[in-house]
Amino acid sequence: VKDVGILAMDIYFPPTCVQQEALEAHDGASKGKYTIGLGQECMAFCTEVEDVISMSLTVVTSLLEKYQIDPKQIGRLEVGSETVIDKSKSIKTWIMQIFEESGNTDVEGVDSSNACYGGTAALFNCVNWVESSSWDGRYGLVVCTDSAVYAEGPARPTGGAAAIAMLIGPNAPISFESKFRGTHMTHVYDFYKPNLASEYPVVDGKLSQTCYLMALDSCYGRFCSKFEKFEGKQFSISDADYFVFHSPYNKLVQKSFARLYFNDFLRNSSVAEKDAREKLEQFSNLTGDESYQSRELEKVSQQVSKPLYDAKVQPSTLLPKQIGNMYTASIYAAFASVIHNKYSTLMGQRIVMFSYGSGLSSTMFSFKLQDGQHPFNLSNIASILNVSEKLEKRHVISPESFVETLKLMEHRYGAKDFETSKDTSLLSTGTFYLVNVDSMYRRYYAKK
Ligand code: ACO
Repeated sequence: VKDVGILAMDIYFPPTCVQQEALEAHDGASKGKYTIGLGQECMAFCTEVEDVISMSLTVVTSLLEKYQIDPKQIGRLEVGSETVIDKSKSIKTWIMQIFEESGNTDVEGVDSSNACYGGTAALFNCVNWVESSSWDGRYGLVVCTDSAVYAEGPARPTGGAAAIAMLIGPNAPISFESKFRGTHMTHVYDFYKPNLASEYPVVDGKLSQTCYLMALDSCYGRFCSKFEKFEGKQFSISDADYFVFHSPYNKLVQKSFARLYFNDFLRNSSVAEKDAREKLEQFSNLTGDESYQSRELEKVSQQVSKPLYDAKVQPSTLLPKQIGNMYTASIYAAFASVIHNKYSTLMGQRIVMFSYGSGLSSTMFSFKLQDGQHPFNLSNIASILNVSEKLEKRHVISPESFVETLKLMEHRYGAKDFETSKDTSLLSTGTFYLVNVDSMYRRYYAKK
């Protein structure tokens, strides 16, 4: 099999969102902290009728319908999520309802979880399956679904929610350059969910930022040396057309690209021009630790890399800025933004991806883009993603009712014996929603 990768994609996010500018004022944060400081515009959230299960049912149904895929043609279904509902019962088993209906229960795969990295683990599993001797010729399907909510405090504006589905197979318009993967995994307590009675994580914000940047450096170094080994030449940021990062909030993405630029400078690549080299020279003797703490380095490297950021990163930032952190779906929503913005010019181009999940797991890998055959071609994927219309159709909710919703959800999390309002007025036709949870904690959904 050749060119294994992503054949088709669809995205679903809740139609309810809160504006960061309004939230900033509501929270009493200084003006610009969430919008400029974190770089975020809007944040999607699930109301009491939606959750990670309903979103994944909605997005999988939509993908199968829009690309006209017979559910019998799926041989592997992998879910990436860090939102725990039934604990031992995977979200994958929920999605099996769609396949059972057509008599297909012969579907391998379960859930993968490690913070925001689970979707990437799920994607690798599907790609590896298609490339393996146990592949039976059918498609793989990857679902990333998460609702990111934080307790009141500085992390709250970095929430978000979405589900993404990706169809995997050979001859894909978005194929893996599997040889160039660079991974970095270690043990660290930067973000975790030890309190099973709460949906909120325990998070060490500052530590998680440093861990993210250290993981980025390490993955980039490994990615570069693998590239050099197989291609016989040095890799630098000029060898990729776009860089897509896991995006907890946009400011960290800005810092990440600047960090890659600084790496290229230290490796003496030709990316940094004379002027930039002179400005960065003063930082070349910092130890690793010092370099993560240096505000001055952050500022200067962001400034000198800005034109390249605008060309190679900016096109990926639309959905993460508008929706917020979607945990496992975040990096793939950023990737979907590139397809949305650039689908007509992507042929033959390379996109480098950086996936990070606290705890921590991280990988840098790359895609090669080609035209593909209908329905699996880039322009069709862009039109099915339908990003602009989905964003335009959203409803802006006040910070007060956003906070009220989260309070209600705190009580509903892990609860039994309740009915939701069944208010689907804001949902579009075809959206799944939660109806009730019975005395045995069994959940019931319906489709609008
Ligand atoms: N105008 C413009 N910028 C402002 C303003 C203002 N009025 N006020 C603050 N800022 C800037 C700050 O200077 C800072 O930017 P900088 O880092 O470039 O200096 C930024 O806004 C954030 O301000 P901080 O004071 O650093 O924010 P705080 O510590 O309150 O919270 C944090 C930020 C740690 C990211 C928090 O939101 C958090 O814990 N989030 C969850 C953890 C997370 O997402 N980690 C990322 C990787 S792990 C993962 O994906 C979950």
